Amino acid sequence: MTHKDLPDRNLALELVRTTEAAALSAARLVGRGDKEAADQAAVDAMRSVLDSVQMDGIVVIGEGEKDEAPMLFNGERIGDGSLPQVDIAVDPLEGTTLTAKGMPSALSVIALSARGTMFDPGPCVYMEKIAGARSVADLLDLDRPLAQTVELIAQRKGTTVGDVMVVVLDRPRHEEGIRAIRDAGARVRLITDGDVSAALLAVQDDSPVDLLWGVGGTPEGVISACAIKCIGGRLISRLWPRNDGERQAAIDAGYDLTRILDQDDLVSGDDCFFSATGVTDGDVLQGVRYDGAGAATTESLVMRSRSGTVRRIFTRHDRTKMRGIPGATP
Ligand code: FBP
Repeated sequence: MTHKDLPDRNLALELVRTTEAAALSAARLVGRGDKEAADQAAVDAMRSVLDSVQMDGIVVIGEGEKDEAPMLFNGERIGDGSLPQVDIAVDPLEGTTLTAKGMPSALSVIALSARGTMFDPGPCVYMEKIAGARSVADLLDLDRPLAQTVELIAQRKGTTVGDVMVVVLDRPRHEEGIRAIRDAGARVRLITDGDVSAALLAVQDDSPVDLLWGVGGTPEGVISACAIKCIGGRLISRLWPRNDGERQAAIDAGYDLTRILDQDDLVSGDDCFFSATGVTDGDVLQGVRYDGAGAATTESLVMRSRSGTVRRIFTRHDRTKMRGIPGATP
Protein backbone atom coordinates (compact mmCIF):
# COMPACT_ATOMS: atom_id res chain seq x y z
CA MET A 1 0.00 0.00 0.00
CA THR A 2 1.51 3.35 -0.99
CA HIS A 3 1.23 6.49 1.09
CA LYS A 4 -1.27 7.79 -1.49
CA ASP A 5 -3.64 4.89 -0.81
CA LEU A 6 -3.75 5.43 2.94
CA PRO A 7 -6.80 7.17 4.34
CA ASP A 8 -5.98 10.84 4.92
CA ARG A 9 -6.35 12.65 8.23
CA ASN A 10 -9.80 13.29 9.59
CA LEU A 11 -9.21 16.75 11.03
CA ALA A 12 -12.52 16.59 12.90
CA LEU A 13 -10.91 14.12 15.27
CA GLU A 14 -8.39 16.79 16.23
CA LEU A 15 -10.96 19.59 16.28
CA VAL A 16 -12.99 17.82 18.94
CA ARG A 17 -10.30 18.72 21.46
CA THR A 18 -10.93 22.40 20.75
CA THR A 19 -14.71 22.22 21.29
CA GLU A 20 -14.26 20.03 24.36
CA ALA A 21 -11.85 22.56 25.85
CA ALA A 22 -14.22 25.45 25.13
CA ALA A 23 -17.24 23.59 26.50
CA LEU A 24 -15.41 22.58 29.67
CA SER A 25 -14.38 26.18 30.26
CA ALA A 26 -17.78 27.69 29.53
CA ALA A 27 -19.51 25.05 31.66
CA ARG A 28 -17.91 26.49 34.80
CA LEU A 29 -20.01 29.60 34.13
CA VAL A 30 -23.35 27.93 33.38
CA GLY A 31 -26.12 29.69 35.27
CA ARG A 32 -23.80 32.39 36.62
CA GLY A 33 -25.59 35.21 34.81
CA ASP A 34 -22.53 36.52 32.94
CA LYS A 35 -22.67 35.75 29.22
CA GLU A 36 -19.58 37.80 28.34
CA ALA A 37 -17.44 35.89 30.86
CA ALA A 38 -18.76 32.56 29.61
CA ASP A 39 -18.03 33.53 26.00
CA GLN A 40 -14.53 34.75 26.86
CA ALA A 41 -13.75 31.55 28.75
CA ALA A 42 -14.82 29.49 25.73
CA VAL A 43 -12.83 31.65 23.30
CA ASP A 44 -9.66 31.50 25.40
CA ALA A 45 -9.87 27.73 25.83
CA MET A 46 -10.59 27.04 22.16
CA ARG A 47 -7.80 29.37 21.04
CA SER A 48 -5.23 27.74 23.32
CA VAL A 49 -5.87 24.28 21.85
CA LEU A 50 -6.24 25.40 18.21
CA ASP A 51 -2.57 26.19 17.74
CA SER A 52 -1.67 22.57 18.44
CA VAL A 53 -3.71 21.44 15.41
CA GLN A 54 -1.57 20.74 12.34
CA MET A 55 -3.06 23.07 9.75
CA ASP A 56 -2.68 26.47 8.14
CA GLY A 57 -6.05 28.00 9.00
CA ILE A 58 -7.65 31.39 8.42
CA VAL A 59 -10.67 32.38 10.51
CA VAL A 60 -13.44 33.32 8.04
CA ILE A 61 -16.24 33.28 10.59
CA GLY A 62 -14.95 34.39 13.96
CA GLU A 63 -15.68 36.60 16.89
CA GLY A 64 -15.75 39.82 14.83
CA GLU A 65 -13.13 42.35 13.83
CA LYS A 66 -9.62 42.35 15.26
CA ASP A 67 -10.06 45.50 17.35
CA GLU A 68 -13.12 44.24 19.16
CA ALA A 69 -12.07 40.58 19.42
CA PRO A 70 -8.65 39.90 20.94
CA MET A 71 -8.80 36.27 19.81
CA LEU A 72 -10.37 34.29 16.99
CA PHE A 73 -11.06 37.45 15.01
CA ASN A 74 -11.91 37.29 11.30
CA GLY A 75 -8.71 36.93 9.29
CA GLU A 76 -6.65 35.52 12.18
CA ARG A 77 -4.16 32.72 11.27
CA ILE A 78 -4.72 29.58 13.30
CA GLY A 79 -2.90 26.26 13.64
CA ASP A 80 0.76 25.34 13.52
CA GLY A 81 1.12 26.59 9.92
CA SER A 82 1.56 23.20 8.26
CA LEU A 83 -0.71 21.85 5.51
CA PRO A 84 -3.61 21.62 4.83
CA GLN A 85 -4.67 25.19 4.11
CA VAL A 86 -8.17 25.64 5.47
CA ASP A 87 -10.95 28.12 6.20
CA ILE A 88 -12.34 28.05 9.72
CA ALA A 89 -15.66 29.04 11.27
CA VAL A 90 -15.78 29.16 15.06
CA ASP A 91 -18.48 29.75 17.58
CA PRO A 92 -16.76 28.80 20.84
CA LEU A 93 -20.03 29.42 22.66
CA GLU A 94 -23.20 29.21 20.56
CA GLY A 95 -25.84 30.30 23.05
CA THR A 96 -24.13 32.76 25.39
CA THR A 97 -27.41 33.72 27.05
CA LEU A 98 -28.49 30.07 27.27
CA THR A 99 -25.27 29.40 29.18
CA ALA A 100 -25.57 32.42 31.45
CA LYS A 101 -29.14 31.42 32.33
CA GLY A 102 -28.46 27.69 32.61
CA MET A 103 -30.88 26.96 29.77
CA PRO A 104 -30.73 24.02 27.31
CA SER A 105 -28.87 23.60 24.02
CA ALA A 106 -25.73 25.74 24.37
CA LEU A 107 -22.86 24.31 22.28
CA SER A 108 -19.27 24.93 21.46
CA VAL A 109 -18.73 24.52 17.73
CA ILE A 110 -16.10 24.68 15.00
CA ALA A 111 -16.27 24.01 11.25
CA LEU A 112 -13.45 23.71 8.76
CA SER A 113 -13.18 23.44 4.97
CA ALA A 114 -10.55 23.78 2.25
CA ARG A 115 -9.08 27.28 1.75
CA GLY A 116 -11.39 29.58 -0.20
CA THR A 117 -14.50 27.42 0.12
CA MET A 118 -16.29 29.12 3.02
CA PHE A 119 -18.82 31.88 2.35
CA ASP A 120 -17.88 35.21 3.90
CA PRO A 121 -21.11 37.09 4.74
CA GLY A 122 -19.24 40.43 4.88
CA PRO A 123 -21.40 43.13 6.48
CA CYS A 124 -24.51 40.93 6.74
CA VAL A 125 -25.21 39.80 10.30
CA TYR A 126 -28.44 37.93 9.55
CA MET A 127 -29.88 35.58 6.97
CA GLU A 128 -33.27 34.00 6.33
CA LYS A 129 -33.07 30.23 6.78
CA ILE A 130 -35.20 27.20 6.20
CA ALA A 131 -33.86 23.72 6.92
CA GLY A 132 -35.23 20.20 6.97
CA ALA A 133 -34.36 16.54 6.53
CA ARG A 134 -33.40 14.84 3.25
CA SER A 135 -36.97 13.53 2.84
CA VAL A 136 -38.37 17.08 2.50
CA ALA A 137 -35.31 18.74 0.95
CA ASP A 138 -37.04 19.58 -2.35
CA LEU A 139 -39.94 21.25 -0.51
CA LEU A 140 -37.82 23.95 1.12
CA ASP A 141 -38.57 27.38 -0.32
CA LEU A 142 -38.12 30.81 1.24
CA ASP A 143 -40.73 32.45 -1.00
CA ARG A 144 -43.62 29.98 -0.86
CA PRO A 145 -46.16 30.83 1.89
CA LEU A 146 -45.32 28.87 5.06
CA ALA A 147 -48.88 27.51 5.25
CA GLN A 148 -48.34 25.72 1.93
CA THR A 149 -44.92 24.42 2.93
CA VAL A 150 -46.15 22.83 6.17
CA GLU A 151 -49.06 21.30 4.24
CA LEU A 152 -46.65 19.83 1.65
CA ILE A 153 -44.44 18.46 4.43
CA ALA A 154 -47.44 16.77 6.05
CA GLN A 155 -48.39 15.19 2.68
CA ARG A 156 -44.84 14.00 2.08
CA LYS A 157 -44.65 12.46 5.54
CA GLY A 158 -48.09 10.91 5.28
CA THR A 159 -49.27 12.74 8.42
CA THR A 160 -51.65 15.60 9.10
CA VAL A 161 -50.50 19.21 9.22
CA GLY A 162 -51.21 19.15 12.96
CA ASP A 163 -48.28 16.74 13.36
CA VAL A 164 -45.80 19.10 11.72
CA MET A 165 -43.45 20.94 14.12
CA VAL A 166 -41.49 24.04 13.10
CA VAL A 167 -38.70 25.41 15.29
CA VAL A 168 -38.45 29.22 15.26
CA LEU A 169 -36.34 31.75 17.19
CA ASP A 170 -38.68 33.69 19.47
CA ARG A 171 -38.23 37.18 18.02
CA PRO A 172 -40.70 39.97 17.09
CA ARG A 173 -39.49 39.73 13.46
CA HIS A 174 -41.05 36.26 13.27
CA GLU A 175 -44.53 37.16 14.54
CA GLU A 176 -46.19 37.01 11.13
CA GLY A 177 -44.51 33.74 10.19
CA ILE A 178 -45.42 32.13 13.52
CA ARG A 179 -49.03 33.17 13.01
CA ALA A 180 -49.04 31.73 9.49
CA ILE A 181 -47.70 28.38 10.71
CA ARG A 182 -50.24 28.24 13.54
CA ASP A 183 -53.14 29.33 11.32
CA ALA A 184 -52.25 26.48 8.96
CA GLY A 185 -52.70 24.10 11.91
CA ALA A 186 -49.04 23.21 12.39
CA ARG A 187 -47.12 23.47 15.67
CA VAL A 188 -44.32 25.85 16.63
CA ARG A 189 -41.42 25.19 18.99
CA LEU A 190 -40.12 28.59 20.08
CA ILE A 191 -36.48 28.82 21.15
CA THR A 192 -34.86 31.81 22.79
CA ASP A 193 -31.45 31.20 21.15
CA GLY A 194 -29.33 28.59 19.44
CA ASP A 195 -30.32 28.01 15.84
CA VAL A 196 -27.29 25.80 15.06
CA SER A 197 -28.62 23.23 17.50
CA ALA A 198 -32.12 23.75 16.05
CA ALA A 199 -30.84 23.21 12.49
CA LEU A 200 -29.07 20.00 13.55
CA LEU A 201 -32.33 18.77 15.04
CA ALA A 202 -34.47 19.77 12.06
CA VAL A 203 -32.35 17.95 9.46
CA GLN A 204 -32.34 14.62 11.24
CA ASP A 205 -34.86 11.95 10.32
CA ASP A 206 -37.00 10.76 13.24
CA SER A 207 -36.58 14.12 14.94
CA PRO A 208 -39.40 15.79 16.89
CA VAL A 209 -38.88 18.83 14.62
CA ASP A 210 -39.64 18.89 10.88
CA LEU A 211 -38.42 22.33 9.92
CA LEU A 212 -36.27 25.24 11.07
CA TRP A 213 -37.53 28.57 9.80
CA GLY A 214 -36.65 32.23 10.38
CA VAL A 215 -33.95 34.87 10.41
CA GLY A 216 -30.82 34.03 12.40
CA GLY A 217 -27.12 34.82 12.40
CA THR A 218 -25.04 34.41 9.23
CA PRO A 219 -22.13 32.81 11.17
CA GLU A 220 -24.58 30.23 12.52
CA GLY A 221 -25.86 29.70 8.96
CA VAL A 222 -22.39 28.89 7.59
CA ILE A 223 -21.64 26.60 10.53
CA SER A 224 -25.00 24.83 10.13
CA ALA A 225 -24.30 24.40 6.40
CA CYS A 226 -21.06 22.61 7.18
CA ALA A 227 -22.84 20.31 9.63
CA ILE A 228 -25.60 19.57 7.12
CA LYS A 229 -23.06 18.68 4.42
CA CYS A 230 -21.83 16.02 6.83
CA ILE A 231 -25.05 14.74 8.33
CA GLY A 232 -27.50 15.21 5.42
CA GLY A 233 -30.63 17.31 4.92
CA ARG A 234 -30.83 20.74 3.37
CA LEU A 235 -30.53 24.40 4.33
CA ILE A 236 -31.72 27.24 2.10
CA SER A 237 -30.80 30.80 3.00
CA ARG A 238 -30.74 34.41 1.80
CA LEU A 239 -28.90 37.39 3.27
CA TRP A 240 -31.18 39.66 5.32
CA PRO A 241 -29.77 43.16 5.89
CA ARG A 242 -31.03 44.81 9.08
CA ASN A 243 -31.27 48.31 7.66
CA ASP A 244 -30.54 50.48 4.62
CA GLY A 245 -26.93 51.06 5.70
CA GLU A 246 -26.22 47.35 5.86
CA ARG A 247 -28.08 46.76 2.59
CA GLN A 248 -25.97 49.40 0.80
CA ALA A 249 -22.73 48.13 2.34
CA ALA A 250 -23.55 44.62 1.11
CA ILE A 251 -24.42 45.82 -2.40
CA ASP A 252 -21.26 47.95 -2.55
CA ALA A 253 -19.24 44.89 -1.55
CA GLY A 254 -20.76 42.95 -4.47
CA TYR A 255 -23.29 40.77 -2.62
CA ASP A 256 -26.45 39.75 -4.49
CA LEU A 257 -29.16 40.08 -1.83
CA THR A 258 -31.69 38.14 -3.89
CA ARG A 259 -29.46 35.08 -4.22
CA ILE A 260 -30.63 31.84 -2.67
CA LEU A 261 -27.74 30.13 -0.92
CA ASP A 262 -27.88 26.46 -0.04
CA GLN A 263 -25.35 24.53 2.01
CA ASP A 264 -23.10 24.03 -1.03
CA ASP A 265 -22.97 27.79 -1.62
CA LEU A 266 -22.18 28.47 2.03
CA VAL A 267 -19.48 25.80 2.12
CA SER A 268 -18.38 24.64 -1.32
CA GLY A 269 -16.26 21.58 -2.03
CA ASP A 270 -16.75 18.11 -0.63
CA ASP A 271 -14.39 17.98 2.32
CA CYS A 272 -15.49 19.83 5.39
CA PHE A 273 -15.17 18.95 9.06
CA PHE A 274 -17.39 19.75 12.00
CA SER A 275 -17.19 19.31 15.74
CA ALA A 276 -19.66 20.42 18.42
CA THR A 277 -19.57 19.73 22.15
CA GLY A 278 -22.55 20.26 24.43
CA VAL A 279 -22.25 22.90 27.14
CA THR A 280 -25.77 22.59 28.56
CA ASP A 281 -28.07 19.60 28.00
CA GLY A 282 -30.11 19.72 24.81
CA ASP A 283 -31.95 17.56 22.25
CA VAL A 284 -28.82 17.15 20.15
CA LEU A 285 -26.05 16.85 22.75
CA GLN A 286 -25.71 16.27 26.45
CA GLY A 287 -23.99 19.11 28.30
CA VAL A 288 -20.92 18.93 30.53
CA ARG A 289 -21.53 16.74 33.57
CA TYR A 290 -19.45 16.45 36.72
CA ASP A 291 -19.06 13.46 38.98
CA GLY A 292 -17.92 13.19 42.56
CA ALA A 293 -14.62 11.59 41.53
CA GLY A 294 -13.22 14.81 40.11
CA ALA A 295 -14.15 14.02 36.51
CA ALA A 296 -16.13 15.90 33.90
CA THR A 297 -17.86 14.18 30.96
CA THR A 298 -18.49 15.75 27.57
CA GLU A 299 -20.50 14.61 24.55
CA SER A 300 -19.47 15.73 21.07
CA LEU A 301 -20.74 15.31 17.53
CA VAL A 302 -17.78 14.90 15.20
CA MET A 303 -18.33 14.70 11.44
CA ARG A 304 -16.70 14.81 8.02
CA SER A 305 -18.57 15.45 4.78
CA ARG A 306 -16.41 13.46 2.35
CA SER A 307 -16.69 10.19 4.22
CA GLY A 308 -20.08 10.97 5.77
CA THR A 309 -18.73 9.76 9.10
CA VAL A 310 -20.81 10.89 12.06
CA ARG A 311 -19.33 10.12 15.46
CA ARG A 312 -20.64 10.75 18.94
CA ILE A 313 -17.73 10.98 21.30
CA PHE A 314 -18.18 10.74 25.05
CA THR A 315 -15.05 11.83 26.86
CA ARG A 316 -14.14 11.58 30.50
CA HIS A 317 -11.84 14.38 31.59
CA ASP A 318 -9.85 13.94 34.79
CA ARG A 319 -10.05 17.43 36.24
CA THR A 320 -7.30 16.81 38.80
CA LYS A 321 -4.81 15.78 36.12
CA MET A 322 -5.93 18.53 33.74
CA ARG A 323 -5.01 21.17 36.31
CA GLY A 324 -1.37 20.26 35.70
CA ILE A 325 -1.56 20.70 31.93
CA PRO A 326 -0.80 24.17 30.53
CA GLY A 327 -3.82 25.65 28.71
CA ALA A 328 -6.24 23.01 30.01
CA THR A 329 -9.30 24.33 31.83
CA PRO A 330 -10.81 21.84 34.22
P1 FBP B 1 -25.03 34.12 20.89
O1 FBP B 1 -24.49 32.77 21.19
O2 FBP B 1 -24.04 34.97 20.19
O3 FBP B 1 -25.61 34.74 22.10
O4 FBP B 1 -26.23 33.98 19.83
C1 FBP B 1 -26.99 32.89 19.64
C2 FBP B 1 -28.11 33.10 18.62
O5 FBP B 1 -29.35 32.77 19.22
C3 FBP B 1 -27.92 32.26 17.36
O6 FBP B 1 -28.17 30.90 17.56
C4 FBP B 1 -28.82 32.93 16.38
O7 FBP B 1 -28.48 32.65 15.03
C5 FBP B 1 -28.63 34.38 16.72
O8 FBP B 1 -28.18 34.42 18.10
C6 FBP B 1 -29.87 35.21 16.57
O9 FBP B 1 -29.56 36.55 16.74
P2 FBP B 1 -30.47 37.57 17.58
O10 FBP B 1 -30.39 37.16 19.03
O11 FBP B 1 -29.81 38.89 17.34
O12 FBP B 1 -31.84 37.49 17.03
